[in-house]
Amino acid sequence: MTALHRNGQEADWWRDAVMYQVYPRSFADGDGDGVGDLAGLTARLPHIASLGVDGLWITPFQPSPHVDQGYDVSDYCGVDLLFGTMQQFEELLHAAHGMSLRVLMDIAPNHCSSEHPLFQAALAAGPGSPERDLFHFEDGPDGMTPPNNWVSSFGDRSWTRADPGSRTDQQWYLHIFSSAQPDWNWRHPAVGDFFEEVLRFWLDKGVDGLRVDVAHGLYKSHGLPDADDPGAVTKGLRFNPHLTDQEEVHDVYRRWRRVADEYSPARVLVGEVNLEPDRAARLVRPDELHQAFAYPFVKLPWDASVWASTAGLLAHAHGKYGAVPAWSIENHDVVRAVTRYGGGERGVSRARAALLAVLALPGGAYIYQGQELGLPEVEVPLEARVDPMWTRGGVSRDGARVPLPWTTAEEGTFGFSPVGAEAPWLPTPASWGSYSIEAQRDSEDSMLRYVKTVLAMRNRLRADGVLSAADPARWRVEADDALVCERGNGFLVVMAMGARAVRIPDGDVVLTSAALTGEGLLPPDTAAWVVRAGR
Ligand code: BGC
Repeated sequence: MTALHRNGQEADWWRDAVMYQVYPRSFADGDGDGVGDLAGLTARLPHIASLGVDGLWITPFQPSPHVDQGYDVSDYCGVDLLFGTMQQFEELLHAAHGMSLRVLMDIAPNHCSSEHPLFQAALAAGPGSPERDLFHFEDGPDGMTPPNNWVSSFGDRSWTRADPGSRTDQQWYLHIFSSAQPDWNWRHPAVGDFFEEVLRFWLDKGVDGLRVDVAHGLYKSHGLPDADDPGAVTKGLRFNPHLTDQEEVHDVYRRWRRVADEYSPARVLVGEVNLEPDRAARLVRPDELHQAFAYPFVKLPWDASVWASTAGLLAHAHGKYGAVPAWSIENHDVVRAVTRYGGGERGVSRARAALLAVLALPGGAYIYQGQELGLPEVEVPLEARVDPMWTRGGVSRDGARVPLPWTTAEEGTFGFSPVGAEAPWLPTPASWGSYSIEAQRDSEDSMLRYVKTVLAMRNRLRADGVLSAADPARWRVEADDALVCERGNGFLVVMAMGARAVRIPDGDVVLTSAALTGEGLLPPDTAAWVVRAGR
């Protein structure tokens, strides 16, 4: 048993844990091929531990042709050679646990890679074969028209001909993402059995849990009917009601929950769920997933009423089932917060404030790699973009996935790869060194120092019982632009979201995201944590 598991038996550690999201391609390159890997990650674990987080979530590192940068898995129980070996994964897990860091990994059950052996076998076996029943193969009305009008979430149609040149095979297969990601047919019992084995494989290895990709997907409407508005699906899967939120999906997570609960300590299942709060919360009923991301927060506009109403809806919906959301303002799929909030100094100021706000809420939280450095979105040159969302005609997510800068060294890649390595898989901008960990480590007012200070304070307040996941939050908006969230036990966060400075409610100001004005007010785009006296 590792140090972590000896000391951390508490079953619901995840309820208010802060996790650090690692996008392994862009975290640290150990072998010099320009792509991050497991050896690089293990070597740099001390950085993650030094932040004061409870653990890490690693996005997919299984074998994949990398059309969707790993979210197209061709072997669910392996490690892609690009990232290393299974032994290196085991070493990583061991090293992380030795530093008291939990490890979550990703599981992508909605679709696999078109190179997955079971999909390849289905293609080869031809129409009408049992192999094809594991996926959604359908005949079209003629060789040219797909079986229905669904649009893929990455743009373009969601059907591709199995064998475009064939006159005998007129079938199409369904993919709600790119054509390299065929959707599994979850109505086939073998698919559920297959994924239970995958789940057990990684839980047996000792991972502390899994983040479930597109958790609201999996099942499609019976009969695959046309969508009323096929174009709307590019706004997100949930706009086509046939693609997500089917009742049968709950049985999948009930089954997975029983599996997770067999382990000691129990393992955690966190869903990526892009549904309206009321519908999303049904996936975190007590016998289903443990937690779901507060999905809308990664796109919220800078508006106090929108923040208050969205957070209120999420907390209320989850609260009905005794659950608390996992809050985050950044991940690998969205524009970096600093840029989203307006860029430049204002963007940085808002990103600091927003972090203080979400870390004050009941529930867990996720910090995406580079968020601790205040990295802005990068305008990746057109010819270097690889995201399938971009290549299929949508926006590019590459700008949030550029390799991390570790040092100020100008030659090479700012410490991401060893000197003399191949070019990084996405180019790093010339300004990158000034954001590096080396540049920020010793600077009093850097984002990195700030994030460490915030997490240290949060951990202290947690230990003192001031911040507990069990305390609900009450939101209010004052004078249109000041957001106040009060927790039990006298703790509150206030955020100035308008153009004026805001008075801080009475109490001890334990942390602010920037210096107060000369009059002791909270300047625009900043936030403060307050503990009321006499609590
Ligand atoms: C992941 C994306 C991925 C998609 C398809 C998601 O929601 O976060 O990065 O492209 O699932 O697997």
